[in-house]
Amino acid sequence: MKKRLYRCRECGYLSPQWLGHCPNCGEWDSFEEITPESSAGQRPDLERAATPIPLAQVELKAGGRRSTGMGEFDRVLGGGAIPGSTVLIGGEPGVGKSTLMLQAAAGLCRHHPPVLYVSGEEAPAQLKLRAARLGLEDTEELLVLTESHLELITRAVRDLRPGAAIVDSIQTVIPRGEKAEPGSTKAVGLVAFQLAQLARELELPIFLIGHITKSGEFAGPKAIEHLVDVVLYLESGRGQESDLRLLRAVKNRYGSIDELGLFRMSPQGLLEVRNPSEFFTRRGQEPRPGSVVVPSMEGTRPILVEVQALVAGARYAAGYPQRRVTGLDYNRVAILLAVIEKRLGIQIGNDDVYLNVAGGLALREPALDLGVLAAVVSSYKNRPIDRDTVVVGEVGLGGEVRPVRRLRERLTEAAKLGYRRAVVPSPVPKVTEITAMPARDVEEAVAALALD
Ligand code: TYD
Ligand code: MG
Repeated sequence: MKKRLYRCRECGYLSPQWLGHCPNCGEWDSFEEITPESSAGQRPDLERAATPIPLAQVELKAGGRRSTGMGEFDRVLGGGAIPGSTVLIGGEPGVGKSTLMLQAAAGLCRHHPPVLYVSGEEAPAQLKLRAARLGLEDTEELLVLTESHLELITRAVRDLRPGAAIVDSIQTVIPRGEKAEPGSTKAVGLVAFQLAQLARELELPIFLIGHITKSGEFAGPKAIEHLVDVVLYLESGRGQESDLRLLRAVKNRYGSIDELGLFRMSPQGLLEVRNPSEFFTRRGQEPRPGSVVVPSMEGTRPILVEVQALVAGARYAAGYPQRRVTGLDYNRVAILLAVIEKRLGIQIGNDDVYLNVAGGLALREPALDLGVLAAVVSSYKNRPIDRDTVVVGEVGLGGEVRPVRRLRERLTEAAKLGYRRAVVPSPVPKVTEITAMPARDVEEAVAALALD
């Protein structure tokens, strides 16, 4: 027998029997019979028309993004966290994930209280100690929960309806009713899937912290990248002691993956590096041979960096000359050294060559080529490059200087920091306050730098 269903015409209240009086809205004689299929929307209504709508008319929810209170973090997210999205923060143990997220939790609390920080790794007292170091221990409505059962975490989020939730870490969460070891691929997958559903349902951003190990043998964050909307990795700058921290997006459904967030780990937690160009170059110092300032690009942001070269006569008569390269692409450098020999007639084949990017950044873009070349030549000739000059350009195998993307932004950044001259590829964009000297090939570039 077919099941009958009745609905109140006034308020939509559903009842399996016909009622004369609606218990919900109090209306009399308002019930009518409906077919169950179309009632609760459980089955798709295939009778309805499928009408495409112009993309131009699709409206986005205004002001949806939630700020972490840290510009560097927000930019990497694409302008803040989207309600309903899931963000994975991966990184090696000790890099500062919990620190970053505790600071972000406090930041989110300012406009979207309360915020829930769930930790399966640390006791409340440990969290309190960290918060005290960060000067955040008095943040009202920042709530902590030390719990590992997914079911209980989910319940807490449902009850509290926070403006954002952080789960530290995904590897410690025990999925409900499943025989899966916490931290196993199956468990982290289930947990990520269910928390992503919860985020969508309750329309709040959920941040998941995930550990990765150096050797990468652990089936962690990598295994769940497809289940979340945004994947960020927190990395340490080059070198063991580096206090530089880089936040990179490797996946972002709501923003670019080119953005880089820069922080410094300090006794008071992570400090944003708001002016990276100042941080990575030392303006106003006596120029030294082998040092060149290059306007590089990280995503949409120009960052001035100092490339340093040291060319020294090889000390081992019988051995190989040394080639040490940090922060730059080794193969690229090898090509540039060959171009220097062939095009500029400078014989460095038997010399030791050391190259470094000051400050701990690792850079890949070809636009650095000309700067690297200039640094090597400057060190070889033991002649400094004028302190008000920056150098940028890609170098081809034939020694030609090739154009780079976003040259205007690079030069504008250099001008902002007081640089007055730039050796660049042509065509040259107009940037006031900086004299651009176009170079067609490496010969012209070294001449413009008075290194010939
Ligand atoms: P942590 O955030 O616990 O790293 P993760 O969660 O990624 O494992 O912090 C890592 C290190 O940072 C820790 O060894 C101590 C240091 N630290 C600071 O230098 N300053 C600080 O203010 C804090 C909280 C930590
Ligand atoms: Mg941690």
